[in-house]
Amino acid sequence: MGRNGTIARDSEINCDRIAKVYDGDKAALSDINFTIPAHGIFSLIGRNGAGKTTLARILSTLLEPSSGRATIDGLDVMADANKLRERMAVVPQEGRTVAWMTPVQAVSAYLLWRGLSYSESKRKAIEAIAQVGMEKQADRLNRTLSGGMKRKVLVAMVLASDAEFVFLDEPSTGLDPISRQDLWKLLIELGKERFVFLTTHYLEEAESVADRIGILDDGKLLTLGNMDELRGHLKHQYSVKVPKGVDLPPVQGEIITLNNGLVQVLTTKDEALEISHHLIERKAQFSVNPVTLDDIFTYMVGAMDPELRESKEVEEE
Ligand SMILES: Nc1ncnc2c1ncn2[C@@H]1O[C@H](COP(=O)(O)OP(=O)(O)OP(=O)(O)O)[C@@H](O)[C@H]1O
Ligand SMILES: [Mg+2]
Repeated sequence: MGRNGTIARDSEINCDRIAKVYDGDKAALSDINFTIPAHGIFSLIGRNGAGKTTLARILSTLLEPSSGRATIDGLDVMADANKLRERMAVVPQEGRTVAWMTPVQAVSAYLLWRGLSYSESKRKAIEAIAQVGMEKQADRLNRTLSGGMKRKVLVAMVLASDAEFVFLDEPSTGLDPISRQDLWKLLIELGKERFVFLTTHYLEEAESVADRIGILDDGKLLTLGNMDELRGHLKHQYSVKVPKGVDLPPVQGEIITLNNGLVQVLTTKDEALEISHHLIERKAQFSVNPVTLDDIFTYMVGAMDPELRESKEVEEE
């Protein structure tokens, strides 16, 4: 283990009653319990202030929990922090590149610091900068780069490293839509060999790349599982969205008034088809799709917040 970047298949990440209270404030995390394999991509999603960064920092040994215990591959994030740090790479949410270095210099300096030789560091740095699509900016000073480009330099550091456990706190924030999709491809590749802890506000991103997704709300883990397991939280697997005020046929299922001017009907595939026919006849605008992570998130997190969710059950089976 270690330098070749492969992780034993039975290796796990474990959180046992992790809690964090900052300076006597209310709990940023409470009673977080889970065990997941230490390979593949784990994406943590949740609203601003839900506690994602706090958990990412605890697992990446940068912050002490107030109570509870967390281990990665059997190593304690507090007692064995130094051993773990050699095996991890982190892009913090507020990560900055060194202004007076170029992207290639910044990445190679990081690799040198991780113990690689000068020539190996430079070779890998050039390769990683190309992977994030920044060949043209490879030798410009970081301070002259755009915000998204600076973010990509940080991602390149992690890609170039041989770290087994990679923590990326909102790596795609500030990236344009094309770069974001390029990043997804890189993440998927990364997840084949290593463990990636990914936080994001792009739920489509989590749905596309993650093997497992955790939903955090107000410091509590509402659920954790793969997309199929998460879909299981909803009684119905199809979603029809129509603008508020559009006449709907009597439906079985759940009607949720969203706060974006739309009404969502969660229902069965057959009912969704029937509603679609009804709406097409009336030339109404609507969309229909199998439930997405977005739907699950709105349902679960909205359910915790009565102001966001105004729902009524209609003709329950
Ligand atoms: N250093 C700190 N001191 C005090 N409170 C903090 C500190 N860092 C975070 N918090 C609080 O802890 C809670 C969780 O914050 P955290 O940064 O983990 O959320 P997040 O899910 O990463 O949010 P975002 O999506 O906005 O990045 C928030 O209530 C926040 O105000
Ligand atoms: Mg955060």
